[in-house]
Amino acid sequence: KSIVVLISGSGSNLQAIIDAIASGQINGRIAAVLSNKEGVFGLERAQKAGIPQIVISHKDFDDRESFDAAMMQSIDAHNPDLIVLAGFMRILTPEFVRHYQGRMFNIHPSLLPKYKGLHTHQRALEAGDKQHGCTVHFVTEELDGGPLAIQAPIDILATDCADSLQQRIHRSEHQIYPLAVEWFCADRLTLPVSGTVQLDGDNLPPEGYQFT
Ligand code: GRF
Repeated sequence: KSIVVLISGSGSNLQAIIDAIASGQINGRIAAVLSNKEGVFGLERAQKAGIPQIVISHKDFDDRESFDAAMMQSIDAHNPDLIVLAGFMRILTPEFVRHYQGRMFNIHPSLLPKYKGLHTHQRALEAGDKQHGCTVHFVTEELDGGPLAIQAPIDILATDCADSLQQRIHRSEHQIYPLAVEWFCADRLTLPVSGTVQLDGDNLPPEGYQFT
């Protein structure tokens, strides 16, 4: 399958997917990496892996609609089967989201449906939660609200601060994002019109991960 990855920053999740393709875990290829910011490290990662890079700055557009339309045009030129949001920090229009319905993933640093939006680590700490984690989900019009594909929970330690949580959660992200992409590329993870995510096959999530 052909994948387009959208980034705004360091692209460590992009790297995890590049590595999982190189190792044969994911049966797919990244057709292009699109960033809304110039000069970010994720673009260097793409360059190093020989993946075409696209930069479309949101600042060059008057509104979200025209920015998203430009992205769509450029993404569709690559005919992707899957769009992967990997630290892409722009809110997408309903038109964009509907266009890629059932074939766009996002990763979010919380155990959704808890803590949609920003500052998730701080919020989990302040709430006194025992667990925190990250989630890969299908993207729908509701921000961070689409059907969940896989979650990795971690225990919050008494010594944790937002930074330490972020570091551990990042490591979990690098496990579950490639896994979700692997399943999608193998036609195992689908979002039927019913809106309920389906995972087919006998190869279930590794211990410690939840398929939801
Ligand atoms: C991750 O923490 C992800 O959960 C959030 O943005 C961050 C991206 O990190 N959506 P990276 O650019 O993949 O390193």
